[in-house]
Order: sequence, then structure tokens, then C-alpha cells
Amino acid sequence: MTLAAYDLTGRSALVTGAASGIGRACTALLASAGATVHCADVDEDGLAGTRALIKDAGGTAYVHPLDVTDRSRVEAVVASAVRASRRLDVLAAVAGVMHSSPVLQTRDEDLDRVMAVNFKGVLYACQESARAMIAAGTPGSLVTMASGAVDAASPDLLCYSAAKAAVVQLTRTLATELGPHRIRVNAVAPGWIRTPMTDRHDAELQSRAEAAITKITPLRRVGGPEEVAHTVLHLACDASAFTTGQIIRPNGGVAMPW
Ligand code: NAI
Repeated sequence: MTLAAYDLTGRSALVTGAASGIGRACTALLASAGATVHCADVDEDGLAGTRALIKDAGGTAYVHPLDVTDRSRVEAVVASAVRASRRLDVLAAVAGVMHSSPVLQTRDEDLDRVMAVNFKGVLYACQESARAMIAAGTPGSLVTMASGAVDAASPDLLCYSAAKAAVVQLTRTLATELGPHRIRVNAVAPGWIRTPMTDRHDAELQSRAEAAITKITPLRRVGGPEEVAHTVLHLACDASAFTTGQIIRPNGGVAMPW
């Protein structure tokens, strides 16, 4: 046995949400494993920062401004990635937004926005990437980003947790449909990870929120984006060649479903 299964040299990976947090960490790690990375996000300044990070580390990165809710743009970005790299082996569908409101105060526009980015955006990226892989007749790995929110009923998180639960069902369904094409589909469901999404913009609020999570987390700390990226790398590469339809939880042990 060697670590060759983790080597992505010659492969191409598309990451949505690549401008920040977990997506940026995934992009950097996939590039350091040898993949050519295609970084997609609505945040063009953030994308430039991600590309600089990868170039400085000696990797190859392309940037693609993308709103994942726009199906025709998703289609164009996948086509452009395939054109540039002549193949697509990995999708990490990481882009997402947070929304918090009690159910009785939740407006249609809140639900529509969160479902559009967190569910439909993942669906479009999976559909277009899988179509490209099937057309090329090559195996592939699709990694979706769910959340620990699927393991608990948290007040104020209906829109977010419903969209992430839909991502889990999308992942399982796609795994059954795409397995015969040698395309694996797995979800990552992280616990609390320190990123701009979980930044409370107030030191005291931040420390209270993290203390509450830390207390109920067996590892007694919150996570870092690079720890989620390691899970994504594992699912992206041949080290997980017999793994599909699974939900992997880098969450410090805060939830332990069967
Ligand atoms: P983040 O806010 O740092 O990054 C999210 C990225 O998604 C940003 O770069 C943003 O510009 C991009 N994005 C948002 N809407 C977009 C759109 N319509 N089209 C393209 N890109 C768009 O947040 P973080 O924490 O890195 O989150 C990444 C993913 O991980 C999200 O799906 C989130 O739900 C999930 N997650 C995060 C956890 C955490 O504790 N930070 C825990 C569990 C899941």
C-alpha cells in the first residue's frame, strides 16, 4: 500500500464556493494533491485571492465567476473547465448561504433564496458535471456540502436545514443513478467550522457561540476549514474508490448517527 491513491496529478476539479472558507481550503488542498482546480464563486475578489494562494504554492488554478443559481452559467462553467483541462474528474459543490429566522417569521423570499443557492445550485453543478463525465466516459467523484444541521432540529434554521436535507437526498439518489457510470457521489456534513459564515462580527457573541458548541462537542473545540478539506480530498480521490452514497461528518463528534 502507498499514498498514490491520494495523488490527483493530471486530474481536474471544479469547486463552487471557492472564494472563501471551506471552498477555498478545498481548492488549495486539491491543488496541492496535484489537481488542476477550477474555482467558481460569485465573489470575484475572493476568487482572485484563492487563485493567488494556489499559484504561490505552485498549483494550477482557473477562476470562473459564477452564480450557482443560474443554470446556464453553471453549464457554461463546466464546459469551460472541460475545454481548458480536457477532462473533469471531481466536483466539490461547496457554495452556500446561511439564513436564520423562526419558522413563523420566515418569508417566501428567504426560503426561495436558500433553496436556490444551497439546493438547486448543488443540483445544477452535479447534473452538469455528471453529464460531462458520462459524455467523456471517465469515472468521477461528486462531493456535496451538507451540514450538521441535518442531524438536529435547531431553532431558526428551517430554511438552511431543509435545503441541506435535500442535498443529502440528492446525494443518495445520484449515487444510485450514477454508480453504473463509475461516478461516486458523497456528502460532507461538517459541524461548526470557523469561517466567514460562522463569524458573528462581535468578539463576545463569537466566544459565547463557540463556547456553547464546544461544551457539547466531544473533541471540545470547533473545526477549521482545512479539516473539512481533508474529508473532501479523501472523497475526491481513489482512496475512497468503494465509497458512494455516504454522509461523512467532520464534526468533532457532536452528532453520531448510525
Ligand atoms: P463562506 O461564507 O466562507 O463561503 C461560502 C461561499 O459561497 C462564499 O465564497 C460565497 O461567495 C459563495 N456563494 C454564496 N452564494 C453563492 C452563489 N449564489 N453562487 C456562487 N457562490 C456563492 O462559508 P463556509 O463556512 O465556507 O461554507 C461553505 C459551505 O459549507 C456552505 O455550503 C455551508 O452551508 C457549509 N457548511 C458550513 C459550516 C460552517 O460551520 N462554516 C458547517 C456546515 C456546513
